[in-house]
Amino acid sequence: PLGRPSDLERYPDDTTVVFTAGGLGLPPVYPIMREHLRLGNHVTLISGFRSADLMFWDGPDERIGRIKAAFGDQLDVIYATNDGSVGVQGFVTTPLEAMLKANQAGQGRPIAEVVTIGPPMMMRAVSELTKPYQVPTVASLNSIMVDATGMCGACRVSVGGKTRFVCVDGPEFDGHQVDFKQLIDKGLKAQLQLQN
Ligand code: FES
Repeated sequence: PLGRPSDLERYPDDTTVVFTAGGLGLPPVYPIMREHLRLGNHVTLISGFRSADLMFWDGPDERIGRIKAAFGDQLDVIYATNDGSVGVQGFVTTPLEAMLKANQAGQGRPIAEVVTIGPPMMMRAVSELTKPYQVPTVASLNSIMVDATGMCGACRVSVGGKTRFVCVDGPEFDGHQVDFKQLIDKGLKAQLQLQN
């Protein structure tokens, strides 16, 4: 019931909007990616998994296969796996960095915007990577929400030095403004408390 809708913009035809989805970040990426495609934007989905056996939605009759069939060349899909069992070996940052470097050399589709959804460590890595290239980066922090009613306080984050609640003010924020260190430290502390 709370929160703000995604901000969608129609970008020039020769550019691309890059989505980096880490594991279970793929389901929340899907509807935002679909709306960018419907708007007419070119989209590059970089979908990362630990290994091939943890992948989902990748068959021709599953969601990514179906949306690829519907939008054709308007959507590029790049898979990355940590163990190299499918696609590029590495993290979602591996193909993203290659794209950023290509752009810097005047090659490839210029990246208009990056949207990152997944584990906080991955979103931090993506945001730190795009910052020196000054590519606008949206981090959707929905994975840290608990009750999503503005009551529990679990989703408190610092964005640009200001306190924000992901379920009220987000879930999408400027990734270059999010204090990921504080967010990750808070998560680790909570994990330790659960273990003790
Ligand atoms: Fe509990 Fe936002 S998720 S206050």
